[in-house]
Amino acid sequence: MTRGCFTGDHIAMTDADFIRGLPKAELHLHIEGSLEPELMFELGRRNGIDLPFKTVDEVRAAYAFSNLQDFLDIYYQGAGVLIAEQDFHDLAMAYFRRVAADGCKHVELFFDPQTHTDRGVAFATVMDGLLAGMAEAERDLGVTSSLILCFLRHLDEDAAFVTLAQAEPYLDRISGVGLDSSEVGHPPSKFARVFAAAKAKGLKLVAHAGEEGPPAYVWEALDLLHVDRIDHGNRALEDEALVKRLAAEGMTLTVCPLSNLKLCVVEDLKDHPLKRMLALGLKATLNSDDPAYFGGYLGANWTETAAALGLSRGELVTLAKNSFTGSFLPREAVAARLAEIDAYVAGVG
Ligand code: HPA
Ligand code: ZN
Repeated sequence: MTRGCFTGDHIAMTDADFIRGLPKAELHLHIEGSLEPELMFELGRRNGIDLPFKTVDEVRAAYAFSNLQDFLDIYYQGAGVLIAEQDFHDLAMAYFRRVAADGCKHVELFFDPQTHTDRGVAFATVMDGLLAGMAEAERDLGVTSSLILCFLRHLDEDAAFVTLAQAEPYLDRISGVGLDSSEVGHPPSKFARVFAAAKAKGLKLVAHAGEEGPPAYVWEALDLLHVDRIDHGNRALEDEALVKRLAAEGMTLTVCPLSNLKLCVVEDLKDHPLKRMLALGLKATLNSDDPAYFGGYLGANWTETAAALGLSRGELVTLAKNSFTGSFLPREAVAARLAEIDAYVAGVG
C-alpha cells in the first residue's frame, strides 16, 4: 500500500491516497471477467467441473494474450464453472468487496447471459444470483449498482432477440443492453434491430466499439444503434471528424487502460491515449473491463494510468466526475456524487 510521505510540516497525500478517497463509479466491468483463479477452482470443485489447469499459478501463467480473441477463449472457458445462483452471487460479492476498497461507489456491470444459457444455465439463475449479490453490496458495502445485459456479437441477431425476450420479466432490474465479444467482423449494424427493440422497451444502449475494430464501427454504434455510451472507443482517435462528433455530443467513452495493455491495443501504458482524449474534449472515464484477467481492479487502473501518463489532480477529478455524469444514475444521485467530489477535493486542499 502507498503511504503519505513526511515533507516537513505536513503529511503530503500521495496520488494513490487521493485516488482511493475520490468518489468514483465503474461503467465498464464484465462480471464474468472478475472471476479470480482461486474462486474458479473453488466453484469447479463445488460443481464437479474439471479445469485444464492444476494450480492457480498455472491459470495465471495462461493469461498472456496477444489480442482480444486469445483472451475471450480463456474467459469463456473460465465462466464454465458458474452453474448455481450461489455461484453468481459469490462472484459478484467478491468483485464488490475489491472495488469498495478502491473507493468505488457505483457500478454498472455487464453480464453475458448467452455464455450461461448456451450451457444450460437458466437465465433466472444468472439474474437471481447477481441481483442477490448487488443487494448485499448496497446494504453491506454502500456500493450501488445496475445491470447491463450484453449480447455476444459473434452470435447472430436472432439469438440476441431470444435473450432480450428472456429478460422480459426482469426489465425493471436491467438498466441497459450492450454489445461485447469478438469485435472485428461483427459490426454494430448486425444488431441494429435488436438495439431498436431494446430502446423501445426503455433500456439504455451501449456498445463496445473501436477496441480492435475500425472507426467505422464507432460511427455505426452512433448512427445505427443510437448508443448512449461507447465502450473503449480508442480507435475513434484515428478519425478527426469522429472525434469532433463525440466531443460535440458529450459522448461518454468507457476506457480501460490495463485491458488495452494486456490485449496489445497499446504497447506501453505510457502510450495510452487517455490523456489525449481528455485534451481533445472527449468525455473519457476510467474502468477495469475484466480485472481478474488484466492485472488490476479499478484502483490499479487509476493509479497505474495516473503514474504512466502524469495525470494531474484536475484530470483525475474530471475523470471521477465523468464517471457519474456518464452513468445511468438518476439526475439527483449524480448531483449528490458531484457535490461529494467537490467536498472531498476542498477537504484535501
Ligand atoms: N472486449 C469485448 N468483449 C468482452 C471483453 C472485452 O474486453 N471482455 C468480455 N467480453
Ligand atoms: Zn469490455
